[in-house]
Amino acid sequence: MNLNYVFDRLRAEATLALVATGLIEASAIALAEPKNRELADLACPIFAAAKAAGEAPAVFSQRLAAAVRLERSGLLATVEAAGGFVNFTLHPEALASAVLEEVARLGDAFGKDSSVGSGEKVIVEYSSPNIARKMHVGHLRSTVIGHSLRLIFEALGYDVIADNHLGDWGTQFGMLLAAIDLWKLTPWDDPDPVQSLVLVYAKYNSEAKDDESLKDLARAWFKKLEDGDVWARQTWQTLIDITMAEFSRTYERLGVRFTTQHGESYFEGMMPAVMAEAVEKGVAYRDAGGALVVGFDDKLPSCLLQKSDGGTLYQTRDAATCLYRLEHYAPARNIYVVGAEQKLHFQQVFEIVRRMGYAKIADVSIHISFGKVSPPNGGRFSMREGNVVFLNDVLDEAVERAEAKMRASIADGRSEITEAEILEVSEMLGVGAVIYADLFQGPDRNITFDWDKMLADQGNTAMYLQYAYARCRSILRKSASPLPQVPSGCGFAKGDLLVHPAEQALLKQLARMPHAVREAGEKYLPATVADWTYQLAKAFSTFYDQCPVLKDDVPEERKLARLALVSATAQGLRNGLALLGIRAPERV
Ligand code: ARG
Repeated sequence: MNLNYVFDRLRAEATLALVATGLIEASAIALAEPKNRELADLACPIFAAAKAAGEAPAVFSQRLAAAVRLERSGLLATVEAAGGFVNFTLHPEALASAVLEEVARLGDAFGKDSSVGSGEKVIVEYSSPNIARKMHVGHLRSTVIGHSLRLIFEALGYDVIADNHLGDWGTQFGMLLAAIDLWKLTPWDDPDPVQSLVLVYAKYNSEAKDDESLKDLARAWFKKLEDGDVWARQTWQTLIDITMAEFSRTYERLGVRFTTQHGESYFEGMMPAVMAEAVEKGVAYRDAGGALVVGFDDKLPSCLLQKSDGGTLYQTRDAATCLYRLEHYAPARNIYVVGAEQKLHFQQVFEIVRRMGYAKIADVSIHISFGKVSPPNGGRFSMREGNVVFLNDVLDEAVERAEAKMRASIADGRSEITEAEILEVSEMLGVGAVIYADLFQGPDRNITFDWDKMLADQGNTAMYLQYAYARCRSILRKSASPLPQVPSGCGFAKGDLLVHPAEQALLKQLARMPHAVREAGEKYLPATVADWTYQLAKAFSTFYDQCPVLKDDVPEERKLARLALVSATAQGLRNGLALLGIRAPERV
């Protein structure tokens, strides 16, 4: 509860009024918006309280409602018994003033509730692609979902550590170093160096399949890398640099940043201690072949912490990462945004650290998993090489399609943008469409790319929201009137301003934003914010249909009030989109 917000204030008001009757306790009050919002804005079920009082619900609710006294200057207008509920309605004018004041006062901070996290640390690990590989669409999901979660947790006042857990360690680097040395390669000079690395790796890997000596050579090179051989280390670093140069371009397009990018290699030094501790605590044992095994009884399939040749595994590195995070951050939550196919891996890792006695990190570690991405029904993604879908290609195609749409609407005279703005706006729309297609529904769902649906300007799409924002901005630009200074009391709480049902519905939707953001944080679900923003855009479009703003016959006072509402809507749409990591164009 945060009394800066109308949403919370009106609940506090209803709670106080109910408690003041002496007939119901605060702990028994659970206010909710009724399904049929025509009848009431807020309802309090009283079944339990009626039972405790030994009365029929319909009788008790009558008695309770009759005893409620509402403040004249408050947000609540009426109170009424309805069967097992006590219903409240809002004062239309008071609501209008309070919501417009709230949005104007908070601006870009509107909808964010920093009192929730109050500085607690949360780690959100996302993206985490592999060095010397291309980022594929699976990494897109991690990046987009994780980035939005990061923004949501920041909006809730958490101190967020956004970590990119790069795959920069493991035997594949032995192969790459061996290949580069043996075949005298300089992939860093190639036009698409990362693609060269992918091909080099594929070639070495396939040749090593029936050539033990190549396998031995790769192992030897990985050992050299582990032991700090100068050339091996330098070359490995170069592989990281050239890959990161490419990843950075993708991150920039997506507006994604990190606070730390500790790759798997960062935890390398901790491995021996972690393994020793696991053995000492009886969590792992040496098998006959010398491998270090963790058994989980019947709970989970067993896994290794060390191979018989001494090499460590993905699990080992993640267990070390967990312990590092506990020691350095002691986070309130440790969130991994990784595909569903790694579910077992994370169950094993969390169980290993729990058994090692670190419930403190195991208890707060959460794997947010997501489903697969498949190409359009029956169709394919446009692909450059092989059958891997690269992230940049997907973004390029989305942007190209958005640009074609923009050009068509310029040709039709439906667009306000100029040739010079077309590229920037298409990038916002295309990238936004890809991000939104991922976030508008829960992450468990598999995504089927459907370009037409994704880039539609109607329906639950980024473009619909971005167009709504641009429409608001366009109205504000066209209005000759300077916007009223809402916080300094332009006095909407009078007359019949902003009381039209479409205006009221829009105001109520605005007021729900802090609630939507809190719920998104509780459920780790950006879709909650997406849905709020979509409902706001829908409410705006109904308002715009039914309530003229700039028409000549609209009296000045009403025009100003509606402009203030349009301005608040624009702010809400922008803030909602921003939490999803999507930019909003000033014109389309
Ligand atoms: N690099 C891995 C991959 O691309 C994902 C890493 C996920 N994070 C982790 N802590 N294991 O599949």
